[in-house]
Amino acid sequence: MATKKKIRLKKKFKKRLKLLFLLSVIVLICIFGGKKIYENVKYQKTLEYQFTKKGYEIDTFKLVDAKCNDEHKEYLLNEDKIDYIKYIIGNKYYIDKNFEAYLSYYQENSKKSFEDIISLVNVEATKPWYEGVTETDVSNKYEILVNKYNVLPENYDVGTIKTFSSTYAYGTVQAEETCYEAFIQMAKSAKLEDITLILTSGYRSRENQTSIYNDMKNSKGAEYADQYAARPGSSEHETGLALDILTYNAFTETFKTTKAYEWLHAHAHEFGFIERYQEGKEYLTGYAAESWHYRYVGVELAKKVKEAGITYDEYYAFYMENR
Ligand code: DAL
Ligand code: ZN
Repeated sequence: MATKKKIRLKKKFKKRLKLLFLLSVIVLICIFGGKKIYENVKYQKTLEYQFTKKGYEIDTFKLVDAKCNDEHKEYLLNEDKIDYIKYIIGNKYYIDKNFEAYLSYYQENSKKSFEDIISLVNVEATKPWYEGVTETDVSNKYEILVNKYNVLPENYDVGTIKTFSSTYAYGTVQAEETCYEAFIQMAKSAKLEDITLILTSGYRSRENQTSIYNDMKNSKGAEYADQYAARPGSSEHETGLALDILTYNAFTETFKTTKAYEWLHAHAHEFGFIERYQEGKEYLTGYAAESWHYRYVGVELAKKVKEAGITYDEYYAFYMENR
């Protein structure tokens, strides 16, 4: 009798154990399932989910997330999917404040490369030359950007101007003192390799630049003048930091083929100079290539600009104005 009772008790215990196990499994399923549902709901609220749901690749979302402000993210979520957006935002020189400008310029110019769209917008060259001109920031004089959209203030103070001796220049050529010293060091260094650098132009007053521009305009027409001469207020020569460099028996037209040019191309940045108007970049600088025109920006900056391999206009927009 006692054994029967024992067996019944054992069975009852086993049944309860089974029930307990089953309940535990159900509880666990509920916990994990609930967690999953919760996580899912939470994920659906993320930008990543919203962007991927809209059809954007995860890598595109990552670019947007890293480079765009909230307003631009919102715009991308509210508008139709923009298939090419990764080429705009993924570009190394993308500047978020230009977001709208890139999109509207692309819409009108969809045959241009994305690289060109970014560069043109960054340097403002989507506008006609000299349209929407602003006074340039002169707080650091060696970094000043002077071009067809960024002009010098009327009363710009060039600092101390020095005059080169006839060893270094044809006629009277002057430059701001630091630029002056840097050129002499550079010319001496070139001389060690039997290369003579000779200056034909340096600092120009506003009046001087005015007559250079007007003379060219009167003799060759405005279109030609605007390719080779800056209008008054927008010449780097007015900063005392631009130098036109030639060598013996070379004219501007032939300078690019000389050893002196080759030397400058390899070494000018070591002395703080950059070649300012390069071939193939006319659409960004606004000038025909001038292999003779060098701008002093200081050694550190010149090395960086040279290494970046872009125009100073592009460099300034991305690395200096955007910092
Ligand atoms: N030749 C350059 C562009 C100037 O006039 O400043
Ligand atoms: Zn020049």
